[in-house]
Amino acid sequence: MTRPKIFVTRRIPEEGLHLLEAACTVDLWPEDRPPSREALLARVRGVEGILSMLTDRIDAAVMDAAGPQLKVISNYAVGYDNIDIPAATARGIPVGHTPGVLTETTADFAFALLMAAARRLIEADAFVRAGRWKTWEPQRLLGVDVYGSTLGLIGLGRIGRAVARRALGFGMRVLYHDLAVPPEAAPERCTPADLDTLLRQADFISLHVPLTPKTRHLIDAAAFAKMKPSAVLVNTARGPVVDPQALYDALSKRRIFAAALDVTEPEPIPADSPLLQLDNLVIAPHIGSASRATRGKMARMAAENLLAGLRGEPLPHRVEG
Ligand code: GLV
Ligand code: GLV
Repeated sequence: MTRPKIFVTRRIPEEGLHLLEAACTVDLWPEDRPPSREALLARVRGVEGILSMLTDRIDAAVMDAAGPQLKVISNYAVGYDNIDIPAATARGIPVGHTPGVLTETTADFAFALLMAAARRLIEADAFVRAGRWKTWEPQRLLGVDVYGSTLGLIGLGRIGRAVARRALGFGMRVLYHDLAVPPEAAPERCTPADLDTLLRQADFISLHVPLTPKTRHLIDAAAFAKMKPSAVLVNTARGPVVDPQALYDALSKRRIFAAALDVTEPEPIPADSPLLQLDNLVIAPHIGSASRATRGKMARMAAENLLAGLRGEPLPHRVEG
């Protein structure tokens, strides 16, 4: 049997790569940076499978450049806004993703960001390193309390629920806004709220929605205007859910207390972005799922999705088209 040819757009952990190498002829993009558009269009030509990252835009042009033998697209991420799902469905190409395995790891990170912004951890670290710690001060680096506060979760999927569990352990009151989770299906001690109420009442607002036309710039100037001046916004979902200009205005004019971002628009954030001048912003380079164990599990899951697709079998974790 000839080994199917596949294109893997970045070196993923061995747990997945060795499964692929055992069964396929793997063209592995060797660089740390993603393939350029031209390189992507050229490298997919003639392949039966594509294993993509969230940095690769996999649209109709890429699918057509690959050719009619393309059998499967497997995304090394739970989110799949980088893939044109209708275009894949129209061509009969199943798309895989990695739900579940990264839920707890990403929820841990959302909570780390929340705590860091609330207690000004990054500022505090910079303060000490700059040699500014001269004595104990009654009013230095005062933050906001997490314990006893209200968390508003926008999106109550797997990750949102995992963040809710952590919040309950911290004695927070949990509100959520998610039309797919009606009041009768609300998890214990989680209260549904309309978006307006959530924005007005929450001390912490954490985003857990996928990026879709409906969620793009969901958090805009009008949303910031409703938030408390002590509010903290946490985004571990997708950058474009927040309007970056409105975020800059809200933070620089202290209309909210702080924000913590693992994702930005655009991504990566330009080094000269005015957001990076703000001391009330905590920022990370899209590392929510980045634990050794979880990235290994994602690699295995992405490989298993791809291999199932090559065999013409149902993908273990397929995006509903
Ligand atoms: C990361 O953002 C993912 O969707 O897995
Ligand atoms: C991702 O796992 C989500 O559905 O929140």
